[in-house]
Amino acid sequence: MKEIPFGRPVISQEEKKKVLEVLDSAWLTHGPNTKDFEAKFKDFCGAKHAVGVNSGTAALHLGLLCEGIGPGDEVIVPAQTHVATAHAVMYVGAKPVFTDVEVDTYNIDINSLKEMITEKTKAIMPVHFAGQPCKMKEIYEISKDNNLAVVEDAAHAPGAEYGGKKIGSFEESSSASFSFYPVKHITTGEGGMLVTNNEKIAEKANLLRAFGIDKSTWKRTKTERPWFYLVDDLGFNYRMTEISAAMGIGQLDKINSFTDARIKNAMKYESELQGVKGINLPQTIPDVKHAYLFYQILVNDESKTGRDVLIGKLKEKGIGTSVHYPVAVPLMPVYKRLFGFKEGTWPNAEKIAKEAISLPVHPGVSEEDVVYVCDAIKELVQ
Ligand SMILES: Cc1ncc(COP(=O)(O)O)c(C=O)c1O
Repeated sequence: MKEIPFGRPVISQEEKKKVLEVLDSAWLTHGPNTKDFEAKFKDFCGAKHAVGVNSGTAALHLGLLCEGIGPGDEVIVPAQTHVATAHAVMYVGAKPVFTDVEVDTYNIDINSLKEMITEKTKAIMPVHFAGQPCKMKEIYEISKDNNLAVVEDAAHAPGAEYGGKKIGSFEESSSASFSFYPVKHITTGEGGMLVTNNEKIAEKANLLRAFGIDKSTWKRTKTERPWFYLVDDLGFNYRMTEISAAMGIGQLDKINSFTDARIKNAMKYESELQGVKGINLPQTIPDVKHAYLFYQILVNDESKTGRDVLIGKLKEKGIGTSVHYPVAVPLMPVYKRLFGFKEGTWPNAEKIAKEAISLPVHPGVSEEDVVYVCDAIKELVQ
């Protein structure tokens, strides 16, 4: 039987060699590899600055802090996202205000977003779901008209493009945060990167990721008094390890070929599953390059097999899938408990949570694998 996992990182000998070099160097965190990875990642995005941290969540947290968002502020977040987007808002003491998403692109719904703006709103957090950029032109129009910051959650979208420009490169955004969790486009085990064109934000993020210390240990080795430092702010330990950074450098060298493989697989799903009764396929908006972290379909009422059973049957055939996400974030127990949110408030996000299946597109999936997955789906749903 075939075994097609939902995600599988591709780690080559080069990355293993780089990691061993770090281990031999005895400089294990926040050093030259981190600097190099940051420089390469900012160039990849077409941005001016990049700050390496130890998770995508840490990058989001810093992105909000660097915008000065805090208690009493509201931040607009899509209801259909990873909890990290909303958690980051909670960490700074602000309130996440959840909007519904579009049922076919799975991205933030612009009309719903407009309705959520109040005099307390300080920022919008667009999430480029599964690698498809949000409608950034509309979002920037709204942010300009209402004087709001745009803090992008780009965890799914390295290499994705909107209007011919890479996600992470937009001057209109305050920052964009990326994640290097194992199932992402590139991985560092755990890791993240905050990318920005704003020098002040980059400086502050640099400070806050390492306790608020004014100079990194690496920089201090080059001074006359390497033991001396001052703490300017109440920062965190969000430093990226050198092991992660070394992996990241090797992974970044291959990101374009990884993403090409993902797109090719997604296109194959699209052609194979076109017109199949019982499922809805995702839609793509014009003028974007979708980076396809996964290919998400909805299993509708006409399907002979319900979503949950379908996942189990696919598993029996060796096909790994995932669900993004099993419950809309505001309806997760913690948010219901804190804010008293009720079912029925975000119809599209709630429908997606009940009907979605994410199919594997990673570089280890062949065209033959995609056909195998599609044949299994066709047999089970129609
Ligand atoms: C949309 C989104 N935002 C943020 C995160 C958090 O990233 P990390 O796991 O690196 O903290 C994730 C997932 O991993 C995600 O999918």
